[in-house]
Amino acid sequence: MSRELLARVLAYYRDLGFQDIYRRMPERAAMEEENPALPPIELPGLAPADDALDRIREDIGDCKRCRLHEGRRNIVFGAGNPRAKIVFVGEGPGEEEDLQGIPFVGRAGQLLTAMIENTAKKEGIPLLRDDVYIANVVKCRPPKNRAPEPDEMEICGQFLFRQLEVLKPKAICVLGGTAMRALLGGKEGVTRMRGQWCKWRDIPVMVTYHPSYLLRAYNTGPKREAWEDLKKLFHFVYD
Ligand code: URA
Repeated sequence: MSRELLARVLAYYRDLGFQDIYRRMPERAAMEEENPALPPIELPGLAPADDALDRIREDIGDCKRCRLHEGRRNIVFGAGNPRAKIVFVGEGPGEEEDLQGIPFVGRAGQLLTAMIENTAKKEGIPLLRDDVYIANVVKCRPPKNRAPEPDEMEICGQFLFRQLEVLKPKAICVLGGTAMRALLGGKEGVTRMRGQWCKWRDIPVMVTYHPSYLLRAYNTGPKREAWEDLKKLFHFVYD
């Protein structure tokens, strides 16, 4: 499509009142070029102006938009305070999350809870896990806990973006590479991006390590760095 035509199409949708037009990920475009027989990707509808968390959950419904629905037991929508000042974004549900339908309740989740509550307490900030909101890039458990594929992230990410637009937190904390790429794009690794402020739309984003990585890390460096990242995040939001 030519630039001129694209500009006219976008103006047409703007006139109809659409506020956001989602873009295809470059990886998918390359896959489509290589394999034109790929089934068309079915994107969720655009966000209505009066969007709300309940509305988003309703729109997800008994989702079968991507292959991840095949093995899931529960859709893990997100949990926490709908008026949270901070939203944590992980990759996708693991086994325990799939069973309970709640994000970050397995081993990595317990570490995340401890990281949030212990860091806040040490810094004199009265913050518990229930005060924040936690969600994932994909809402169904990928088989064998593999990383979500680009098309799965693109489809499910639209719902995450709507959640973030509704929650309007003062800051977002992305946990690990998948969440970082979903919100910020780019090809940099977490080690390079962590501890720095970035932006998703107008919302400040802090990148840090995924707690599963911290469970596996054989030295204390990344744990100390993650603690520093959370300190920075909490002081920015609560000072
Ligand atoms: N890992 C994630 O990224 N999200 C969860 O909810 C659990 C583990």
